[in-house]
Amino acid sequence: MLVAGNWKMFKGPSETAAFLDAFEPPTEVEVVVCPPFTSLAAAVGRGIPVYAQNVHWASEGAFTGEVSAPMLLELGVQGAIVGHSERRQYFGETDETVGMRTEHALEAGLRVIACVGESEHERERGETQDVLRRQVGVLNAHENLVVAYEPVWAIGTGKTATPEIAQEAHAFIKSLLDVPVLYGGSVKPENAEPLLAQGHVDGALVGGASLEVESFTAICETATRRFRS
Ligand code: PGA
Repeated sequence: MLVAGNWKMFKGPSETAAFLDAFEPPTEVEVVVCPPFTSLAAAVGRGIPVYAQNVHWASEGAFTGEVSAPMLLELGVQGAIVGHSERRQYFGETDETVGMRTEHALEAGLRVIACVGESEHERERGETQDVLRRQVGVLNAHENLVVAYEPVWAIGTGKTATPEIAQEAHAFIKSLLDVPVLYGGSVKPENAEPLLAQGHVDGALVGGASLEVESFTAICETATRRFRS
């Protein structure tokens, strides 16, 4: 069971340090935080694994604005999110670049949370499985790879996939690739229990609710209870 907090473009170094000083991670489930690049150094060494929100496919080179796996590793960062829907939607991320980023990061020794998920339009048109097949198709199973199923219509919208929708999508992803699958999309303390109770849900990728110590702690506690039961 893994609970990852995706802080997106929130929390500079001092807010990052204050959050992690106040946050007590549970011992039985794995919890990681993914702060913005400029807060990674402030986050490392505070008792919880730190992941970046993106990573490039080359170790170095003329790629303005990008950060490489060796640079993250040198800082003490243990993993990275790759292919988040906001990267796909606003920054031109494609299945091909997601595949390249993931492969290189894993080879370099980072752990990777690779994100997949259909849009509302794609779901309405019955294309969910086609989209997932295409997005998962660029990934290869690896012991340090997990996939996050994040239906785009559920991210930051307050609309959560029903536990049944999550379970079905996760089962489908696992039929394509044998890796743990996290659920992401408006996970809150109020809805975490039934989602994490699904047999194919191996954890959560939490955005908004990971920004407050109280709500993130509550979700981590729910994960711990599910893990024990
Ligand atoms: P949300 O974000 O929990 O705020 O919906 C999840 C994510 O984008 O990873």
